[in-house]
Amino acid sequence: MAFLELNGVSKNFGHASVLRGLDLHIERGEFVAIVGFSGSGKTTLINLLAGLLLPDAGTVRLDGRVVAGPGPDRGVVFQNYSLLPWLTVAENIALAVDSLFPSWTAARRSEHVDRHLAMVNLSAARDKLPRQLSGGMRQRVSVARALAMDPQVLLLDEPLSALDALTRGSLQSEIARIWAADRKTVVLITNDVDEGLLLADRIIPMTPGPGATLGPEIRVPLSRPRDRKELNHDAEFKRLRASITSWLLDAAARRKSAAPTRLPAPPALIPITLS
Ligand SMILES: Nc1ncnc2c1ncn2[C@@H]1O[C@H](COP(=O)(O)OP(=O)(O)OP(=O)(O)O)[C@@H](O)[C@H]1O
Ligand SMILES: [Mg+2]
Repeated sequence: MAFLELNGVSKNFGHASVLRGLDLHIERGEFVAIVGFSGSGKTTLINLLAGLLLPDAGTVRLDGRVVAGPGPDRGVVFQNYSLLPWLTVAENIALAVDSLFPSWTAARRSEHVDRHLAMVNLSAARDKLPRQLSGGMRQRVSVARALAMDPQVLLLDEPLSALDALTRGSLQSEIARIWAADRKTVVLITNDVDEGLLLADRIIPMTPGPGATLGPEIRVPLSRPRDRKELNHDAEFKRLRASITSWLLDAAARRKSAAPTRLPAPPALIPITLS
């Protein structure tokens, strides 16, 4: 049995089917990227893995146990950062640490918070409020907070999508470095195929919704550490990128051709004679 498993998972919102029959098996220490279009159901998938949503059919299992709610074994970096605006950067992280390790002394907690802030190069911002930070910095606080909780699994919901290319690149390198040092199990949601190829062991494309499903996995055999600039000239990287991109485009085209292209004609008007 894999460490993190989805078997036949479906999720609906009301009458709308968002995810349909998802099977996904992730080994301990693996880095898996899920790539898909906007609105396909990626955040819904993360919420199911986090236990914030429960499936309508199928099961989510972590280390053999059915996921029935959120837990400290899974750290989530949400798409919208979700920091508490009235707490400083350090306090946001300390609050999360406190909830998990309430018996720690203030000194131990503070050392732990500072170490994780240093990991994401944010030591200088420890006493700032979230509104005083750029989007990229907030995202890094969110990553530091998830890491400080020392979860077994990191669930990253497009953590870099709101960032400019330069910040995005440096945070990608940080995520790669932290993963190499710690070997946590990581599920990264992304809309960027290159990002998946830079970071993951395996990439799994998702079809557009409604009723999204997972496509065939693509293993990424590129050696690590991976250098973005060098990869651009790597034949294997180019081949993988082309094959994932064309799978996604084909999936979108299939979805489009399956959808009705024209609204049905309105029923013919029945002349009513008023007498
Ligand atoms: N709580 C909810 N209630 C009703 N519908 C929802 C809810 N959450 C998501 N949806 C719908 O489910 C679908 C998938 O949403 P989801 O947020 O999972 O997509 P996504 O792939 O994460 O999109 P994005 O790339 O834009 O973040 C969308 O059509 C969305 O409107
Ligand atoms: Mg989303």
